[in-house]
Amino acid sequence: MTVAGTLRRLLHLDDEKEFQARPYWEDRHDAHVGSLKSVGHRQLSDEENADQYALKRERITEMISRSVGGGYGKSLLDAGCGIGLLTSAYVDLGFDVTGVDFSETAVKEARATEVEAYFVVSPLVSLNLDSRFDVITAIDVLLHVVDRREWHATIAALSRHLKPGGLMIILDFFPDDGEGWPDHVRPRPLSNYKASFDRLNLRMIEHEQFDLPYEDVTKDLIAVRAHDGSL
Ligand SMILES: C[S@@+](CC[C@H](N)C(=O)[O-])C[C@H]1O[C@@H](n2cnc3c(N)ncnc32)[C@H](O)[C@@H]1O
Repeated sequence: MTVAGTLRRLLHLDDEKEFQARPYWEDRHDAHVGSLKSVGHRQLSDEENADQYALKRERITEMISRSVGGGYGKSLLDAGCGIGLLTSAYVDLGFDVTGVDFSETAVKEARATEVEAYFVVSPLVSLNLDSRFDVITAIDVLLHVVDRREWHATIAALSRHLKPGGLMIILDFFPDDGEGWPDHVRPRPLSNYKASFDRLNLRMIEHEQFDLPYEDVTKDLIAVRAHDGSL
């Protein structure tokens, strides 16, 4: 960044131009009530988005089952749950599920599905629940935390909600460079994630990739284990 740019930033002269994630998502959920476009790809039809969700659901639930077995007697936090499209998959696995999203509209929609989960409205970065979870999922969410410090603080906030030895499942995509994306999208290379995990005593134990239909994008699905507290 140039000296002038740094000064502008320090003096908050550009603040009014900075992307505001929460109103963006509130408007988007509001504009697409009843449609998968609120959380899926807006250029795709509901049927096409449903196909993508079916594939994501399969890959995510397989990874969770491989890593922790069944969900009975275990808790799961669906971080950035949106309208609850995947929340029901975790309930079906037997988990005791809590969903959190910073959009009131999305959470209202999720509650309306009557899926047996508890829903909370909160930004992930300031999440402060009384419980810790066996599993936390962050599906297509961290790439939307555009501010670098907030992004790291968000992973830290999630890790504070993991039980010792707990599992975090992240679906995102990890391009080599982070330039040229729309305002609400800021994917990061895997090396950034790994550096963040190292600082938080988290260890990546699985990484797989798959291509989504109808889009030229390869998704990355990772499983990250919290330290179990042993020496
Ligand atoms: C692309 S959607 C994915 C929703 C859901 N995980 C799914 O796969 O259907 C991203 C969701 O994350 C929420 N979100 C984005 N940034 C967030 C943040 N910092 N804190 C809480 N929720 C956030 C949005 O409101 C939106 O519902």
